[in-house]
Amino acid sequence: MPWRRTRDPYRVWVSEIMLQQTQVVTATPYWLRFMERFPDVAALARASRDEVLAAWAGLGYYRRARLLHEAAGIVVREHGAEVPSEPTAFAALPGVGRYTLGAVLSISFGRPLPVLDGNVARVFSRWTGRPLVVKRPADAKTLWAMAEALMPAAGTRRGAIAPGDWNQALMELGALVCTPRSPRCGTCPVRRHCVAFATGRQEELPPPADRRAVVRVRRAMVVLEHDAKVLVVRREGAHLDGLWEPPSVELAGGDDAATRLGETLAAIGVRATLRATTKRFAHTITHHAIDVRLWRGTLDGRMPRASSRVRWVTPGTRDVALTALTTRVLADLGPSASGRKRARGTQRT
Ligand code: ADE
Repeated sequence: MPWRRTRDPYRVWVSEIMLQQTQVVTATPYWLRFMERFPDVAALARASRDEVLAAWAGLGYYRRARLLHEAAGIVVREHGAEVPSEPTAFAALPGVGRYTLGAVLSISFGRPLPVLDGNVARVFSRWTGRPLVVKRPADAKTLWAMAEALMPAAGTRRGAIAPGDWNQALMELGALVCTPRSPRCGTCPVRRHCVAFATGRQEELPPPADRRAVVRVRRAMVVLEHDAKVLVVRREGAHLDGLWEPPSVELAGGDDAATRLGETLAAIGVRATLRATTKRFAHTITHHAIDVRLWRGTLDGRMPRASSRVRWVTPGTRDVALTALTTRVLADLGPSASGRKRARGTQRT
């Protein structure tokens, strides 16, 4: 974990935001590139939102990137470009919840503030033998109280342990030893105190969280090519706001895909002849299962000009924040649009 080599609060902060919904192996190359591109909080604040989203593209949960960027601006304007070490000031920044607060201020400034993530919650549930589910608000309250009570207090014998080391050790115990399935109890340093181990319930605890129902969605998407470039539009709204994707539209019950796609193109001033293909993509974004049918189009008349909402991109570009679905679709574009194919993939918003 390259961020372990620094206590620079900006670098630690970015790593902790990236790691919140993303695994270490996935986040690491993104963190390295992000640090090269935006080496300090002032560089991040100076960048445009599009540049930040492009650096984040593929990591998912883009709200994290937008809030981090917004917070960087506030740090520069209101805190002289120094990440605040004072808890109230840091917690007031966009995207900084209780976890980020504890992680960054304990690691970078040695503040005795607890962390609770899914890994730590699992350790506590097993260690106490209690069926605590971090996604249930009442249980989360109990778990946070445990994290706070366990934090080594300065002046005590355990107080020699730095709060940042304590927090990271707990998270790592959960990630590497006290794993969701087949926990490595044989090598666990706290198994002597573990109620789940003593009673053989380590595989049953914590109980599974209530699953969110899957929502099925149908979309039609059209790929328009010109000079080896593909037309993309900027998405707006709650999901994928600010990311780029070929024009697409969600279909309701009796919708005719060609009609709806034609309307979608007309709204951005594009007229095209549409051809259905047999390509379909099963794409998942959080709890949405999206069935995407791919169309191809040939421009009729003039070429739309690039604008803040429409642009032409070369497939494979890293300069534009494309949605994960777009990356899949473009990677799959052969010289011909025919051929039966059904692929699967996942993206988190
Ligand atoms: N998971 C998220 N942040 C972490 C950290 N700093 N150490 C160990 N695991 C983590």
